[in-house]
Amino acid sequence: MGAGAIKGFNDIFPASPEPFLHSALWHRIFSISAEVMQSYGYMPAWFPVVEYTELFTRGLGTDTDVVSKEMYSFTDRGDRSLSLRPEGTASAVRAYIEHHLGRNEPRQKWYYHGPMFRAERPQKGRYRQFYQMGVECFGAKGPAADVEVLQMLQAICRALGIGPLRLRINTLGDKESRGAYLQALAGFLQQHQGGLCKACQVRTQANPLRALDCKEEGCRALMRGAPDILTSLSAASRTWFRQYEALLSRAHLTYERSPTLVRGLDYYTEAIFEAATDALGTQDAVFGGGRYDGLVELLGGPATPAVGFAAGLERLALLMASADAESGLAPDVALVAADAEGAADVLQMAQELRVLPIAPGQRSHRVLVEADATKLKQPLKRADRAGARYVLVVGENERQVRVGSLKRLSDGAQQQVPLSTVQMARAMADFVPETG
Ligand code: HAM
Repeated sequence: MGAGAIKGFNDIFPASPEPFLHSALWHRIFSISAEVMQSYGYMPAWFPVVEYTELFTRGLGTDTDVVSKEMYSFTDRGDRSLSLRPEGTASAVRAYIEHHLGRNEPRQKWYYHGPMFRAERPQKGRYRQFYQMGVECFGAKGPAADVEVLQMLQAICRALGIGPLRLRINTLGDKESRGAYLQALAGFLQQHQGGLCKACQVRTQANPLRALDCKEEGCRALMRGAPDILTSLSAASRTWFRQYEALLSRAHLTYERSPTLVRGLDYYTEAIFEAATDALGTQDAVFGGGRYDGLVELLGGPATPAVGFAAGLERLALLMASADAESGLAPDVALVAADAEGAADVLQMAQELRVLPIAPGQRSHRVLVEADATKLKQPLKRADRAGARYVLVVGENERQVRVGSLKRLSDGAQQQVPLSTVQMARAMADFVPETG
């Protein structure tokens, strides 16, 4: 018997002393996220945990940290080099090609959960065996598929009770854009060799994109002045990205464009993204993904556009455990009566919301009623302490105009809504804060 589990490998069980490793929490994450992914028309898939090493070296890129430093590779009895999978996309693509889906049914929407392995230095939020949930959508070229996976990402967070994550996006363009950009970037790196770390001096020739997300302070400062890929985009990629941004804003998805976001795997094209939090220290990315239109072809299949993402379950569990062990059970909304007459309205609205699902096929709303206070301060404080996401006060004015102000407690943003429970439910699912 050795000294216990290998460092960076976790046990997940009911009474774990680590709240984020409680198995009940994990069960909830699996089942809730699976339901959300199914509601978007995605079907479950399982792939082997071990693959030929070549799948990852070719698919993810030999210059990436994941392949060059972090893979668990070994030679089997037949003298073949095998690796524990460091991520799920390469396996999904291999399966897609192997079963001729491009010929039979090119449009495939899959989700998966399972363990991945990377020999990184373990720390909070970073482990050597970690779990991912991921989705892969094959066969859709237009940006609507990219926007829909982001809507799904948001719906998963909402269903898990995780506060809003910061969504960062960027584009890597198509092959032509990438070629032009690599040239511009390599030129810039060449000019600033003296200010670059040793690794980035090598990257200048080998893979300049990797210099953009170098963690060294000096390189990071320098990269703020690097050329922006937007100036190298081909006409087709420019149009694609413009449509993508227009759809994002029509879908009320709040994001920030980060010109230095490149992601750590080489297969991406066009739009890429990460959803991050401030609550996890340096391991801040919870979800990461994007489009990879060239990968199916690169691995020997027919040219097939694809987009997807993956999230680390430990990071989701840490967020859920640190927000509040019960956060998954927190009320969606607190309805507060400002006076005695408001109580009847509030009781009636709460009853209706409790049988209205928060999204198609999901549980119904959890509603906290506050109808007996003489001052507003106390009920609002209690709503906040209970972790309610929204609060709505019903007083004389609201009763007269039949409109109230739905307030999001995380940031105080407000949206005017008619006092109709159907419209309130819609507003809570797709909150649009008022500006100005
Ligand atoms: P990735 O950004 O390498 O993307 O990983 C996705 C997520 O997995 C990260 O945001 C993080 O939450 C989690 N993760 C990664 N490494 C670790 C680790 N050592 N410990 C704990 N959690 C970790 C991919 O893997 C792509 N396959 C995503 C994708 C799917 N792109 C397109 N389709």
